[in-house]
Amino acid sequence: MIDQAMVVFTPSGKRGSFPLGTTVLQAARELGVDLDSVCGGRGLCGRCQVQCASGEFSKHNIVSRQEHLSEGTRVEARYQRIHGDFVDGRRLGCQATIQGNLLIDIPADSQVHRQVIRKDLDRADITVNPAVKLYVVDVQQPDMHDPSGDLRRLKQAMTIEWGLTGLNASLYILRELQQSLRKGNWQVTVAVHESGDILGVWPGFKEAVYGVAIDVGSTTIAAHLCDLSSGQVLASNGAMNPQIRFGEDLMSRVSYVMMNPGGDAQMTDAVISAINDLLRAVSTISGILPEDILELCFVANPVMHHLLLGINPVELGGAPFALTTDESLQLNADEMGIRVHPLAKAYLLPCVAGHVGADTAGVVLSERPQAGEAMTLLVDVGTNAEIVLGNHDRLVACSSPTGPAFEGAQISGGQRAAPGAIERVRIDPLTLEPRFSVIGSDTWSDDENFASDTATVGVTGICGSGIIEVVAEMFLAGIIDSEGVIKGDLAARNPRIQANERTFSYLLFQGSQEGDVTVRITQNDVRQIQLAKAALYAGIRLLMDRLGIERVERIRLAGAFGSHIDVKYAMVLGLIPDCDLSQVGSAGNAAGTGALMALLDKDARTEIEQVVRRIEKVETAVEPDFQQHFVEAMAFPHKTASFPELGKVVALPEPSSARPVRRRRVRRG
Ligand code: FES
Repeated sequence: MIDQAMVVFTPSGKRGSFPLGTTVLQAARELGVDLDSVCGGRGLCGRCQVQCASGEFSKHNIVSRQEHLSEGTRVEARYQRIHGDFVDGRRLGCQATIQGNLLIDIPADSQVHRQVIRKDLDRADITVNPAVKLYVVDVQQPDMHDPSGDLRRLKQAMTIEWGLTGLNASLYILRELQQSLRKGNWQVTVAVHESGDILGVWPGFKEAVYGVAIDVGSTTIAAHLCDLSSGQVLASNGAMNPQIRFGEDLMSRVSYVMMNPGGDAQMTDAVISAINDLLRAVSTISGILPEDILELCFVANPVMHHLLLGINPVELGGAPFALTTDESLQLNADEMGIRVHPLAKAYLLPCVAGHVGADTAGVVLSERPQAGEAMTLLVDVGTNAEIVLGNHDRLVACSSPTGPAFEGAQISGGQRAAPGAIERVRIDPLTLEPRFSVIGSDTWSDDENFASDTATVGVTGICGSGIIEVVAEMFLAGIIDSEGVIKGDLAARNPRIQANERTFSYLLFQGSQEGDVTVRITQNDVRQIQLAKAALYAGIRLLMDRLGIERVERIRLAGAFGSHIDVKYAMVLGLIPDCDLSQVGSAGNAAGTGALMALLDKDARTEIEQVVRRIEKVETAVEPDFQQHFVEAMAFPHKTASFPELGKVVALPEPSSARPVRRRRVRRG
C-alpha cells in the first residue's frame, strides 16, 4: 500500500513526497511554493486556486491525473455557489488533498508575488507584494479559566496561524476589537502593515482592502485606486491642483508663501482638500468606501512634497535649495489630514535633491536606468526639467530651469493641452502653407470635414507639443534659420510671413468668424522656445560631462508633455541630444507608475530608496559650464553638437552663418 505521493509544482519546478491526504496548500507551504492564502485554508478567499495537469510527464517522471486529487468538497461547492464555478477545472488548494502523484500548476493569479500587467499606466509589470496584507484568524473564545484579554488571544492566533509576531494595536483597534470578534463569531480578518501595526479588524472574512497611488503635480493631481491583494487598478481619476490660484508655477507659489504669511497653510489645505475629493471620487467609481483605503503612496516634486506635508517650502526658493528631508517617509494619512481609513498609512517616495523630487524617484523606479547597461536619459519636462542620466554603473541628476514655454505659457497663442488646442503641425517646404490638427479631433485642417469635425471644440490656441512641432516645421521648411530668426525675406513668397515692427511672425491660423482666435508664431515665441530648450539641453550636457560621455543610448520623456510630444521634433529643435530615434520614446506617466509600483510592492520601496541614495546630484546654478552650454544650445538643433542619427531620418537645413548670440543669464523658476 503506497501512503506517499510525489507532487511537482509548476512553474517553480519544486517537488516533494507527501503523505496521502495532505492538502495541496500544505504541500506548497512545506516546499516554499508561492501559493496565496488570505483565509488560512478556510475555503473563503479563493486565493489558493490550483490546476492539476493530466498526463504522463517524463520530464518529471510522474503520471498525474485529476483523480489523484480528492473529490470536490462541500466547502468548494459553497465557494462556487457564492463566486461562480471554477475556471479550467481549478480546485481550492486548501481543500483538495493529495491522493496520488500530481503535477500542480499555480496560476499567476494565485501567486503571492503575482505580476500584473499595467496597460493604462503605460508599462511595467508590477509585482504585487504590498506592505498591507489581510489575514483571517479564528480566535480562542475567553473563558473563566483563561483570564487573558481578547487582544492577547488575537495575537496568539496570529502567531500560531500565520507566524506573525511583534504586532501593535492602537487605541482605535482596541475600541473595535471586542465587537468585531463577537460579531464574527470569533473569526476576524485582520489587516497588518509590514511594521507590525494592526490597521483594521473586521468580523468574519473581508475580501479586500485598497490603496491609492497619487501623483501630486503642480498642475494636476492623479490618483489610481487599486485592490491591494490582486494589484488591479479599479479606478483612475485626476483633478486640477487648486494651488494654481496661488501661482501658476512652483516658484510663484514659493513667492506667494514669502509674501503672504500663512500662505503655505492655505496651499496645504487646498491640496489636501483636493486629494480628499479625489479619493472620494475614485472610491465611488470603484464602488468601495473610502474607509476601506488602507494605504496611500505619493510622488511629488519637492515644492509639492513640502506643501503636501504642511512644510513651509521657502528654503526651496533659493540656493542651496535645502529640503527638510530627502528620505522616504512612512506616515499616518490621518495626520496629513487625509480622510480615508483612520489608521491608513501614507508612504512618500524619497526626493533626489532640492530641485529633483519624489516624482523623479518615481520615474527612476518605473524606468529602471540602474538595471541596464544602456546609457539612459530620463527627462521630465515641466517648468523645471528634472533630468537623470546613467546606467547600472552610475546615475547623475539635475534640474534645469526651462520655464513654462513648453506648457504653452509665455507663448502668444499658447494654452494648456485641452480640446481645441493645436497639437500637430506640418508645413509644406515649397508653399510654406501649414496644416494642423487640434486636440479632440483627428481631422487635419486641410480636410474638407475639418470645420464640421471640430465644430464642438473649435480652434482655441496652441499647446506645448504644437509649439514644438510648428517651430520645428518652420525650421525644416526654412522659415526660421538655425539661429532662430524668422526670415522676413520670405514674406514675398507667402503672406503668412508678416512684419511686426522689427521682427516677423508666421500666421498659423486665422478664424473666419468674429471672435475666432488668431494663432501666429512670433519671433518672441521662437525665442521663448530657444531659451527653454537651451536650458534643457545645457542641463543634459552637464550630466553628460559629469559622466564623460558624448552619446546617450536611450531617452525617455516623462510627464504629460513627454507623452504628447513627437520625439523627432524634439530632437530637430535640439531639446534632447542626438540618439537613435528608435530608442527615444515617451515614458508616459512614469512618476505615477512609480507610485503605483511602490504602493503594490514593498520591495520596490527598498529598491528606490537605495537607488536614490546613489544618485549624484549636479546643481546647474553653480556649474560654471552651464552658461556656455546654454549659449551653444540656443541654435537649432545646436551650435556645435552634431546630430548624425537624426540626420538619417530628417534632412536638416544647413546652419546659418554664425551670428553672435547674446549671452543671457538664466534664472531659476
Ligand atoms: Fe482561502 Fe483556500 S486559502 S480558499
